Amino acid sequence: MNESLIEKINILKKKKNAIILAHNYQSGEIQDLADFTGDSLELSRKAADNNADVIVFCGVLFMAETASILSPNKTVLLPDKNAGCPMADMITATELAKLKQKHPDAVVVCYVNSSADVKAISDYCCTSSNAVDVVKSIGEDKKIIFVPDKNLGQFVKDRTGRDLVLWPGYCPTHHFATIEAVKEVKDEHPESLILAHPECPKEIREFADELLSTGQMLKYVKTSDRTKFIIATEIGILHTMKKQNPEKTFYPASKKFVCPNMKKITLEKVLFALEDNKHIIKVPDEIASKARKALERMVAVLPKG
Ligand code: 13P
Ligand code: SF4
Repeated sequence: MNESLIEKINILKKKKNAIILAHNYQSGEIQDLADFTGDSLELSRKAADNNADVIVFCGVLFMAETASILSPNKTVLLPDKNAGCPMADMITATELAKLKQKHPDAVVVCYVNSSADVKAISDYCCTSSNAVDVVKSIGEDKKIIFVPDKNLGQFVKDRTGRDLVLWPGYCPTHHFATIEAVKEVKDEHPESLILAHPECPKEIREFADELLSTGQMLKYVKTSDRTKFIIATEIGILHTMKKQNPEKTFYPASKKFVCPNMKKITLEKVLFALEDNKHIIKVPDEIASKARKALERMVAVLPKG
């Protein structure tokens, strides 16, 4: 069944000169199917720089919007139109405009997990892999508003010592994972190293050994001398970790680490997307041209270390 679906997808992909991009949180079969998998920054870079006519984005809406903004002449498809990101929906452009009025001299840094409208009135975008470096690139004398993730924002505050104005947004998948669950796994596997995503709540961030984006986690486990890891982020990433490191062991830090939106993408939906050109994600030119400035600044900042 899967084989015939994959075959059909590959035939159509060739015919349409399409590329399939998948986030590290996608299911194993989608990651295996993709031409390129990565974290938000790696996928944005790939979306901005490829020779395809069609990008099938196996991820969530803000990722497909980002691809549309960075590659306005390509057709960008999101196989499930309801695959959104609740964190991105936690701030609207109207709310951000009000916050900007309260801090008229501030520079706005928005996490890429935000709507195109929010990006259009932001100065910089960032992802979890370069948020610290983006903030460090902004003059010390500048006040900074950071939206929408309070957890990533606090992580950036801790790492840079900068006094950021934060918004109370969060990722439900990471925020509601409990420290008790993580400690339980650590008790069972005390020799393991805990790698957590900066979207995790404070107690988990403080208990973790390393705080990394998903792309950074994949690089870390490959090059580390350690062989056992507890992974405090969406469980989809364990598929590639195991595949790339068959001699190492990975434990999910909690059963709560499932993003239902990421899991809406299936092989069937990828095939339907290619067959019927659905669902086309096209950010209107007026918004896209404003949001592109903030995104290009993000894509230009390579994460250090
Ligand atoms: P990264 O893959 O950039 O670490 O982002 C995590 C995430 O939550 C994407 O929605
Ligand atoms: Fe949004 Fe969290 Fe899902 Fe990422 S994991 S898409 S931040 S809800």
